[in-house]
Amino acid sequence: MAGGPSSTALIAAVGAAGGLGLVPAGYLTAEAFADRIDQVEAATDAPWGANLFLPGPPAADDAAVAAHADALRPLAEARGVALGDPRWEDDAVDAKVDVLLERRPAAITFTFGCPPAELVGRLREATGAVLVATVTTPAEAVEATTAGVDALALQGAEAGGHRGVFVDDRAFPGGGELVPLDELLARTRTETPLPLLAAGGLMTGADVRRVLDAGASGVQLGTALLCTPEAGTSATHRRALLDRRYDGTTVTRGFTGRPARGLANPLALAFPDAPSAYPEVHHLTRPLRAAAAEQGDPDAVHLWAGDGWRGVTEEPVGTLLARIARDAGL
Ligand SMILES: Cc1cc2nc3c(=O)[nH]c(=O)nc-3n(C[C@H](O)[C@H](O)[C@H](O)COP(=O)(O)O)c2cc1C
Repeated sequence: MAGGPSSTALIAAVGAAGGLGLVPAGYLTAEAFADRIDQVEAATDAPWGANLFLPGPPAADDAAVAAHADALRPLAEARGVALGDPRWEDDAVDAKVDVLLERRPAAITFTFGCPPAELVGRLREATGAVLVATVTTPAEAVEATTAGVDALALQGAEAGGHRGVFVDDRAFPGGGELVPLDELLARTRTETPLPLLAAGGLMTGADVRRVLDAGASGVQLGTALLCTPEAGTSATHRRALLDRRYDGTTVTRGFTGRPARGLANPLALAFPDAPSAYPEVHHLTRPLRAAAAEQGDPDAVHLWAGDGWRGVTEEPVGTLLARIARDAGL
């Protein structure tokens, strides 16, 4: 979970509990990513993994981005900040791959795109890591299988945070077909021989048992960890989740230009037609979101959360994961 929640303490605690914590590369410079890996290795002897963004080529409609900026400007001014520069960049993915080529991650997961076969081969040979592509549809699962990854993270429609759609298709509010996790598992199992990790809305042992019984080989948790003491989740985000400040979740491009599921706060709801322009919109809204978070005002903060968010607890990671594993009969 890039952007703060997946702190070194969270990754170490997940490892200590028998899970595999992922060092999130997203939004960091390659140097900061390497530092994060050093910190994790200093904090734990447990295996760790890494997560890479694979943003696509520039595809923004400049006029649409400018119109979104016009609509957002009063919100930024009300909080005493200017909007950011809506620039495109590729999350320094090549430099981050170079960092990983020198390390020993147990797994590398990808999101926002299909890893090219050449990259899969290079990373496997150099690192020995299990390579995992995030997919949201059976078609993406087939494409990733062909690219040669070892496993798939099936991200159901319930999942919190950005959707991993390979291409953000504006014909769909979710950037592609919003397939609920159980349906995605059923429809994908027959399309690929790869092990499937289920993600999206999994909060309890019963949820985990259900997807394992449906053919998943493992699970990926996000939202369930957000309010643990070890997580780096902002106080504003935690309070919005725990105080049930908003009624539910929604998928929006309003914050970053890529469909993402978060609590249905005013900014998320205000821009159903925000442009498909990642990371331009991410950079545009960043100062606004940062100012709102600093001011303790959740209405303009990206409060990523999956549909299971009402089940968040403040248990320590070890207690939470032990409970989920026990209740899942593991
Ligand atoms: C706050 C937050 C940040 C996330 N950041 C990332 C990320 O950096 N990379 C990624 O592949 N997925 C990210 N995700 C998505 C998760 O990998 C996963 O698909 C999702 O959390 C599963 O659904 P759940 O939140 O209902 O458990 C994030 C999710 C959340 C809630």
